[in-house]
Amino acid sequence: MFDTKLYENELATSWLGQNLCYVPELESTNTFAKKMSRAESLHGSLILADHQRKGRGQYERNWEAEPGKNLTFSLIFEPATSDRLTILTLACAFAISEVCEDLTQEIFQLKWPNDLLVKGKKIGGLLTEAIFNGSDLERVVIGIGLNVNQKLFSQDIEKEAISLAFIKNEYLCRETVLTRILTKIEYYYRLWDRYDIELLKSINKKMIGYGDWASLTVNGESKEGEFKFLGVNEKGCLVVLNKELEVNTFSYEQVRVHFDS
Ligand code: BTN
Repeated sequence: MFDTKLYENELATSWLGQNLCYVPELESTNTFAKKMSRAESLHGSLILADHQRKGRGQYERNWEAEPGKNLTFSLIFEPATSDRLTILTLACAFAISEVCEDLTQEIFQLKWPNDLLVKGKKIGGLLTEAIFNGSDLERVVIGIGLNVNQKLFSQDIEKEAISLAFIKNEYLCRETVLTRILTKIEYYYRLWDRYDIELLKSINKKMIGYGDWASLTVNGESKEGEFKFLGVNEKGCLVVLNKELEVNTFSYEQVRVHFDS
């Protein structure tokens, strides 16, 4: 069980995660967060579960997490617009990568659009969902799954999944890992909110394949030729250069990037 008292004692943020909604078992923290009333889910709220019966990943995949071992949580934000949510998601992933690097002394990388990798394996993923009231943005839910203490994974993902405990060969305190992550996310949220260009540069430098040639699938169709992956621009679109030296941008939903190596 997650120790909420320890969490409260260690939390050093000014707003993020101060409103904790801990539900030991639920379907999905993102689904739960989306159903909460506006009064229950203020800016900075955190919904955390030990066990998600139906954790969701991107592209309608499942998110596998052994109950009680990992971090599965959602953060609620109320930004002024729904622009640049790709960058906000990547900023959260970047924040997590910094905490994990500090904990393990390994290099973590971001994989477009929102995976966290280390040693070529996936350790975390983010799922961002925006809730609108008509055309007005009501809130944004950023769901985060981070493999902390899980050491055995199902056959489907055992070759590509890894956890912090696997790297360190010791169990980590989930409450400490989470509170450290929240401190970083709170910091980078502020920079994101200010359109900080250095944040974007740092994110791009952490992205797998930055500056490399890649192939693309756009709206499910593979694109002819090779493209140089130039990362994300200030609007949150993916930027690539083709062999004719033309710059192309794609929105987050449209495109998947494949690196050959
Ligand atoms: C992905 O890699 O495809 C994204 C995974 C996101 C998983 C997290 S776990 C907490 C939150 N609740 C969910 O149902 N999904 C996200």
